[in-house]
Amino acid sequence: MYSAEDVKKIVKIKLKGYKFVLVSNREPYIHMHTPGGVKCKTPAGGLTAALDPLMQACGGTWGAGGSGDADRENVDKHNRTRVPPDKPEYTLKRVWMSKDEVDKFYFGFSNQTLWSLCHNVFEKPVYNKSFWNGYRHSNKLFANAVTEEIKNEKNAFIWFQDYHLALAPKMIKKANNHKKRKIVSAHFWHIPWPPYLVFRTCPWAKEILEGMLANNLIGFHLKEHCVNFLSCVEKILDLPVDYKKLAVAYDERRVFVKNFPISIDFDVVSTLAKKPGVKKEMKKARSPNKIPYKYIGVGVDRIDYTKGIIERFKAIDRFLEKYPEYQNNFVFVEAGAPSRTRIPSYASLNDEIEKTAEEINWKYQTGYWKPIKYIQGKLSYDELLGLYRTADVCIVSSLHDGMNLVAKEFIAANVDRTGILLLSGFAGAAEELREAVIVNPFDIEEFADAINTSLKMSRDEKKKRMNALRNSVKENNIYKWVYDFINETGRVMKG
Ligand code: F6P
Repeated sequence: MYSAEDVKKIVKIKLKGYKFVLVSNREPYIHMHTPGGVKCKTPAGGLTAALDPLMQACGGTWGAGGSGDADRENVDKHNRTRVPPDKPEYTLKRVWMSKDEVDKFYFGFSNQTLWSLCHNVFEKPVYNKSFWNGYRHSNKLFANAVTEEIKNEKNAFIWFQDYHLALAPKMIKKANNHKKRKIVSAHFWHIPWPPYLVFRTCPWAKEILEGMLANNLIGFHLKEHCVNFLSCVEKILDLPVDYKKLAVAYDERRVFVKNFPISIDFDVVSTLAKKPGVKKEMKKARSPNKIPYKYIGVGVDRIDYTKGIIERFKAIDRFLEKYPEYQNNFVFVEAGAPSRTRIPSYASLNDEIEKTAEEINWKYQTGYWKPIKYIQGKLSYDELLGLYRTADVCIVSSLHDGMNLVAKEFIAANVDRTGILLLSGFAGAAEELREAVIVNPFDIEEFADAINTSLKMSRDEKKKRMNALRNSVKENNIYKWVYDFINETGRVMKG
């Protein structure tokens, strides 16, 4: 099993003499004003949670957009701060954007164009020239911040994260295109990559691909995303692609593309799940009133239309209708963290989720029992782990998802091996987590039956499946993901 130590070692060996810089839009630590003074918080979402342990293990600099209202007061004159605040291990370099810049770059092109373009959920991408210009402009801001960080270095390794930064690799390589400094860069794209027939609809498809091909290595979660990407490169840029080696010749170099399924820190989650505080939360979740719930289901999401929350509620409705013996006995707790609420489709989704839950509750509720408990906001970690541990079933019903780390987190927290994971076949995680109960979330009838199958499953069967899932997540943890990525970077940086 890979550990932080292995990551430290491989970084030392493969990136010897290189300054390590990671870049993402979302920052791992956010300073916020609260009534009790300035607090440093961590955001919802898999990317930062997955990469923070890596940065803590190997140090370096993480460049990211400053998003907290107390961020500016908590940096030095180079916009840097050391994090985590209670045990500083690496440097966070903040990049500033005005409200208008964030609107065009983050809420605009990143999340109304690229997000819908890359997720196969039939949400039309918005093709708006001013979003595109804003995206280009903000990529330049990130590129400038990185260039500033490496100006005194001979060699630098830059690791770009996600779809917000497709253009920055080319900008940085161009700005540093002189003999004095060697730059190796890699990009991990945390969401799916669409097929050519979809991607070609983007008016700026060519520039996006060229921006990314400035990297030495490009990573996706699944092989299918790599093949989609290469077929876009082949057909849109007319470049020779080697599908066997997953590589493309570009600008007198070879750019490699490979799949690396991201994961979590299994041991940390599993250990924290055994804490006494979590036991207390388990009791609270199981018996908030005098009579304990017989069956508990849990869902944990960023509120996003790709997560299939409405479909999940519809399946619960059908399940209670078709299997009435669960009425009064089954409660589904949905913890939804609001996200990207300035975008109209996200704001209306939140209302729709509330309305759907209310309608279903109205249809079935008796006495104190309601089938759906919708909690808006982020739970404390003890509450979350308590829910995971006590739940009979965790439902991840993404309509399309790069990976989905909630699925893996639930498995790591399930130390009693009593829970079942009901997982959408359209989440990247389904490729590895074969012992989950897999569903098509669009098929409400099948989905309702799958909830019944999960709850009816024998204790032995649940245990057998959970043991296999736990072994798989333990083996393929976040450190393995980083190890494999850096190892591959070391291999491809020679050309
Ligand atoms: O799943 C894609 C992703 O960008 C993750 O990498 C990230 O954790 C999550 O979405 C959160 O998104 P945002 O930064 O917009 O809150």
